[in-house]
Amino acid sequence: MATVYLILLTLHNINRWLVLLTGVWALLQSVPGLSGNRPFTPAERRPVAMFMGTLHLQVVLGLVLYAFIGMQGIPAFAGGRASFQWEHLGLGLLAAIFATLGSVQSRKAATEQAKYRAAALWSGLALLVTLLAIPWWRPLLRLMNVEV
Ligand code: HEM
Repeated sequence: MATVYLILLTLHNINRWLVLLTGVWALLQSVPGLSGNRPFTPAERRPVAMFMGTLHLQVVLGLVLYAFIGMQGIPAFAGGRASFQWEHLGLGLLAAIFATLGSVQSRKAATEQAKYRAAALWSGLALLVTLLAIPWWRPLLRLMNVEV
C-alpha cells in the first residue's frame, strides 16, 4: 500500500509541472488576442482545454492521496503549517473550477474577443491560485523517492 501511495504522490508531483506548463501556454495563446478581432481558433482553445484537463487529473490524484493519508495515518505536508492541508485542498479545487470556467466560457461566449477575454481571465486566475496551492518546500521533482 505504501508503494501505491508513493506512485500516486510521484504522479501528483510530476503532473504539477504539466499543470503549470499548460497554464502558461493558455495565457500566452489568449492574452495577445485581447486586442484586435482575431478568431478564437482550435489552436487557442487547445491549451485552455489541456490546462483544465491536467487540473482535473490533479484533483482526482489529490483526492485519492488524501484517502490514503487518512487510512494509513501518514502525516500530510510534513514541514508545513498544520492548516496547509485544508488550504491545499481548497485552493486546488478553486484552480480547477476557474480553469473549467475558462474552457466553458471561451467556447460559449458570443464574440471572438469575449472568448479571448474569458480564456485569459480564468486561466490567469487559475494559474495564480495554483501557484499559491503548491507546497514549494516539498521535492520539486519526485521520482518515487521517499524522503519528504
Ligand atoms: C492546483 C492543483 C494542485 C497542485 C498543483 C498540487 C501540487 C502538489 C504538490 C507539488 C505536492 C507535493 C508532492 C510531493 O511531495 O512530492 C502535493 C501534495 C499533495 N496534494 Fe496536491 N496539488 C493540487 C491539488 C490538490 C488537490 C485538489 C488535492 C486534494 C483533493 C491535493 C492533495 C494532495 C495531497 C494529499 C498531497 C500529499 C501530501 C503529503 O504527502 O504530504 N492536491 N500537491
